[in-house]
Amino acid sequence: MATAASAATFSIGTAQTGRSLSPSNPFGFKSNSQVNFSGLKAMSSFSGNETCAALRATFAPKAVKENQNRNHILQPQASYKVALLGAAGGIGQPLALLIKMSPLVSDLHLYDIANVKGVAADISHCNTPSKVADFTGAAELANCLKGVDVVVIPAGVPRKPGMTRDDLFNINAGIVRDLVSAVADNCPGAFIHIISNPVNSTVPIAAEILKQKGVYDPKKLFGVSTLDVVRANTFVAQRKNLRLIDVDVPVVGGHAGITILPLLSKTKPSASFTDEEIEELTVRIQNAGTEVVEAKAGAGSATLSMAYAAARFVESSLRALDGDADVYECSYVQSDLTDLPFFASRVKIGRKGVEAFIPTDLQGLSEYEQKALEALKPELKASIEKGVAFAQKQTVTC
Ligand code: NAD
Ligand code: LMR
Repeated sequence: MATAASAATFSIGTAQTGRSLSPSNPFGFKSNSQVNFSGLKAMSSFSGNETCAALRATFAPKAVKENQNRNHILQPQASYKVALLGAAGGIGQPLALLIKMSPLVSDLHLYDIANVKGVAADISHCNTPSKVADFTGAAELANCLKGVDVVVIPAGVPRKPGMTRDDLFNINAGIVRDLVSAVADNCPGAFIHIISNPVNSTVPIAAEILKQKGVYDPKKLFGVSTLDVVRANTFVAQRKNLRLIDVDVPVVGGHAGITILPLLSKTKPSASFTDEEIEELTVRIQNAGTEVVEAKAGAGSATLSMAYAAARFVESSLRALDGDADVYECSYVQSDLTDLPFFASRVKIGRKGVEAFIPTDLQGLSEYEQKALEALKPELKASIEKGVAFAQKQTVTC
């Protein structure tokens, strides 16, 4: 007998749409909170075999309306497998919960070196479509990864007050190396989302490991810099008294200190800032991670806002895999937009990963932004080279 139960579906964040491009609306930005609302929406009852149909029925009318002038009609099916490595951690637990709520996920694999059984048992009681499975320790990693479409990696140690992200390198570089090596062996075609810090180095490490294994697809390796965009949007909306849901600030460069460069001149909707506001907002966005580390006073770094940001990036990736042609996110990826081999910028994501860059984002920068862009390059270059050198010293077994 099917038990009627209420469930929730959601759409996270404000990934940009690429439709209706025009000079005044280059990203087809939509401010309709029905589409882009950053939160939870209760949906009607569903259960058992009716799950997918009910999800489609609840979602489709809105999607049809919103997409009537578009080619793609979003009809979510719970058909994607997601693996979360580091799932018992501060980010891992709330992120697992948020991914469990996605209507696009059929299987959620939770992996950690410890304490993941309880997290999986707990989350598995939520009556949303995905099946949850737990995997503990290296011996279970391969099974965790087989057949997976998206792998999210927040495994590793967080900062304490007084530390830089680079201070995490010695521990986290090895963790990312080993996990990505297992991804290469077991699900080489998956999208890989790297959250573990220092992202400026861990993404190049992942790229080198994948190259050594002969399975590197630069279009599918993403450094998750979404939290920088989430913060920039929040701080700018607060400062300029704008509706949060309307605001989009691209953040480029990398994910540490001055390598985080919010492009306030490209804020949508367009807003004007005094020189003092630009300086204050830029510095706050660059130091926002440290703001949380200091507030937590030794108990770690951002976990809840990070889980929110990472869930948004997962949802965007799943929508892209599902054929939505309107997915734009900022991400730290292999790039030829600048002379640096890796660079965070807005990218269009499609079924095969990064489909396009948006070179205009780096055109027409303000003098402040242009200077900041030049200033960040040496630090970002050094972090990339450090990651590459580390990975090239490793012996990876094929
Ligand atoms: P945490 O210590 O709370 O959790 C980390 C988890 O990783 C733990 O459960 C631990 O058991 C697990 N782990 C360690 N080694 C592992 C391995 N080899 N395989 C699988 N799991 C392993 O830390 P956290 O607060 O969740 O942060 C995790 C990482 O994310 C840190 O490096 C942090 O700096 C980074 N972070 C990045 C961003 C970003 O914007 N990209 C934001 C916040 C935090
Ligand atoms: C953040 O930006 O919050 C993360 O990179 C964690 C940190 O160490 O600041």
